[in-house]
Parts: sequence; C-alpha cells; structure tokens
Amino acid sequence: MKIILLGPPGAGKGTQAKSISNRYSIPHISTGDIFRKNISENTPLGIEAKKYIDNGQLVPDEVTINMVKDRLQQDDCKNGYLLDGFPRTVSQAESLQGFLKDRDESLDTALLIEVPRDFILERMTGRRVCPSCGASYHVKFNPAVEGKCELCGSEVVQRKDDTEETVQERLDVYERQTQPLIDFYKEKNLLSVVEGTKAINEVFESICDILGSVK
Ligand code: AP5
Ligand code: MG
Ligand code: ZN
Repeated sequence: MKIILLGPPGAGKGTQAKSISNRYSIPHISTGDIFRKNISENTPLGIEAKKYIDNGQLVPDEVTINMVKDRLQQDDCKNGYLLDGFPRTVSQAESLQGFLKDRDESLDTALLIEVPRDFILERMTGRRVCPSCGASYHVKFNPAVEGKCELCGSEVVQRKDDTEETVQERLDVYERQTQPLIDFYKEKNLLSVVEGTKAINEVFESICDILGSVK
C-alpha cells in the first residue's frame, strides 16, 4: 500500500500516520520528522533546513525531493509506505509520479485530512511532540501522561515552529503551495477525503474505511 497524506498544518497527519503505519505495517515517512532529526544532530541537511522551517517556509524542492527519493529506496519501503508531509508542491508531486512510473508502481491513494483554518491554532499551540519518535500529543485533546511519550518514553516538547506567528505563515504557505495538489490528485482519480474535525479515533475509523475500499 502506497499512501500520501495531505492536509494543512495541524490537520492530524502525524497523529493518524502513527496508527495507519501500525495497522497496515508500512513505514511512516514524515519529511518534517526527518528534517527535525537532522536539525537536532546538526547535520549539513539540518543546518540548511532550519533556515526555512523556523520561518514557516518550505525547504527547497531539490533538497527535499532527493532526500525522499533516497528514503523510498530503502528496504523497508518494498511493501509500501505512508508519506506524511510530502509532496507539498506540484513540482514534488510530479517528481514522485516520475519516480513511481520508472518503477512501474503507482499510488493507492492521496488521503486529504480536511480541517478548517479556525480549528488549527488551538491544535498547534497546545501540541507537544516526542523529539525521539515524532509522536504528537495535545495538552487538552491527547495529553502525554506525565509528559512522557507513550511509544518510547522520551519527554515531550513544544515544536519551535508552533508559535502563533509561524503557524499563520505555515497556513498561508499551505494555501499557496500545497492546496493545488488537491486538484492534482483529483484529476488522477486518486484523491480521498476524510473529515478531520472529529475525535482522533473517529477520524482513524473513517480512514480505515477508505483504505479498506482502495486496497
Ligand atoms: P511538518 O512537520 O510536516 O509540519 P506540518 O505539515 O505543518 O504539519 P504538522 O506536523 O504541524 O501537523 P500534523 O498534520 O502532522 O498534525 P498533528 O498530527 O501533529 O513540516 C514542518 C516543516 O518542515 C514545514 O513547515 C517545512 O518547513 C518543512 N517541510 C516538511 N515537509 C516538507 C516538504 N515536503 N517540502 C518542503 N518543506 C517541508 O496534530 C496537531 C495537533 O492536533 C496535535 O497536538 C494533536 O494531538 C492534535 N490533534 C490531532 N488530531 C486531532 C483531532 N482529531 N482532534 C483534536 N486534536 C487533534
Ligand atoms: Mg506532523
Ligand atoms: Zn516517542
């Protein structure tokens, strides 16, 4: 199964990705998580990416596309994968199509988690994340017990780009650069849409219904 997750910042892509990846035994590949890991390790990629991420801007396509292509060629991707946060521009989406075509492969679905802009700010400012495995929590909607990640035990932290100002910028960037992908995948008959404003487990149930029917 090859799935991409679309949706604005704070839609719940990372939250749902953890459950989907478990249920369907496919790796969860989050470009945001890969960048953050590189930032924490101070690698050249991390130093480059940080300049953009801290301002809510996208990391340049060339850097991102090469990074994802490398990742998709690793052994654990043989039976499929779940891409979270990639593609995010039409140029990234076209590169992915080319990559798949060269391998005689195709996507199963592009799953859009739809959440209106008014919901996002509360979700983002209350979010806590695990710096080790990338799991997302929320002080009100999904609290981390004693501030620890339930998957790996690390202490959860607040993301640097989750300030109100940066979130507004990320939402603008989403509308300008990523929203066109909705039509891109609709035209290819690959788009499925899930309503992301319900409770986390209800959204997951809807996603499983959709994935059950595209398989
Ligand atoms: P990335 O890490 O991908 O951030 P994002 O797309 O802005 O999305 P988020 O991770 O903020 O939101 P999410 O949808 O995963 O929501 P979550 O599940 O955590 O990217 C960060 C940066 O990296 C970008 O700005 C860019 O600079 C760079 N980057 C990444 N990919 C790139 C690319 N392809 N090209 C170029 N640059 C790239 O949930 C949010 C909160 O809501 C949590 O607190 C959660 O607990 C809560 N929540 C979730 N679901 C629900 C629910 N149903 N009800 C109530 N609360 C909920
Ligand atoms: Mg995320
Ligand atoms: Zn963790």
